[in-house]
Amino acid sequence: MARVFSIDARNPDLRLIAEAAAVIQAGGLVAFPTETVYGLGADGLNPAAVARIFEAKERPLTDPLILHIADPEALPSLVRETPPSALELARRFWPGPLTLVLPKRPVVPDIVTAGLPTVAVRMPAHPVALALIRAAGTPIAAPSANRFARTSPTTAQHVQDDLGDRIDLILDAGPTPIGVESTVLDLTRPVPTILRPGGLPREALEAVLGPVAVQTRMDEGPQPSPGMLPKHYAPRTPMILVVGPPPQTRAALRELAARYAAQGHQVGLLVAEEDRAAMADLPVETVVLGPEDDLETVARRLYEGLRELDARGLSLIIARDFGAQGLGLAVRDRLLRAAGGSVIAVNRDAEKHG
Ligand code: TXA
Ligand code: MG
Repeated sequence: MARVFSIDARNPDLRLIAEAAAVIQAGGLVAFPTETVYGLGADGLNPAAVARIFEAKERPLTDPLILHIADPEALPSLVRETPPSALELARRFWPGPLTLVLPKRPVVPDIVTAGLPTVAVRMPAHPVALALIRAAGTPIAAPSANRFARTSPTTAQHVQDDLGDRIDLILDAGPTPIGVESTVLDLTRPVPTILRPGGLPREALEAVLGPVAVQTRMDEGPQPSPGMLPKHYAPRTPMILVVGPPPQTRAALRELAARYAAQGHQVGLLVAEEDRAAMADLPVETVVLGPEDDLETVARRLYEGLRELDARGLSLIIARDFGAQGLGLAVRDRLLRAAGGSVIAVNRDAEKHG
């Protein structure tokens, strides 16, 4: 098992940080908290260290990593051009859950970018992450600290469960506050394009940039961002996602849950506070993510909820959608992937036809 340092999230002990930074400088792997999820960090300018990330995660070398920096001024040393839009976004949203994709400089190893001519960079809003990057004195390459294609970790225990036997050190600063990964924004296209919806809502980007495209089609065409593969973020238990207006969704959830339970399935529900009462008499297990309109809470609890249901040995998870506004888009994206495309859409018309 990896060594674990308990560390204060707001006021990290700099002696522990210095030890962790020494591991990074020596080419080792350190899992650390960010405001989104835990990352698995290595020296981003050391190809051999970065290779260890791919091995530990069993991640294909075709899936590029994000470089984490502690100061926006480090950006121009990693990317060939820094367009005014990048400077403006960095000024407004860094540190924070926004990753910018820009043309890379030669100093960025090819293994980081999976051979792409672009690199993804972000400045995380977590004192532990920032202190670690500063102490290491190098950009830290870090994917989410889970095994490839599994649910991302929002606690140190999740990291220990997935990777504990393969990494050197885990910095445990408690659960991560946002709970879904950063928004990945490609600035190399004519229209800025979200490749992965995440902790920074599309609406916040559009308020600065004007129209922003979202390209997360999972079922067709070449994948512009390999992290968009459909079977990402998946629990082991089969899952169905129900999408539609809340009252109709609730009715459909109830009906599906009752039907599958009657067929002998062990059913788990991933739902909103408002759904609980309607499911109370069903022979199912229920995990509540939060109130329907409290998307911060829903996002923060999402992966924990998925892991919790996944650990119960159920035969089916049925989850509900939380809309596409704000953080809802990121939540929907992760639920769609977890469901591997098993989606049931209900709408008002469906109600009319019975
Ligand atoms: O919140 C986060 O972003 C977390 C924390 C640890 O910072 N990190 C994270 O990393 O989620 P990872 O490796 O799990 O996801 C990185 C995403 C993937 O979807 C990857 O394909 C995309 O960023 N990406 C990285 N470099 C890219 C590039 N040059 N062009 C397009 N997409 C890129
Ligand atoms: Mg990931």
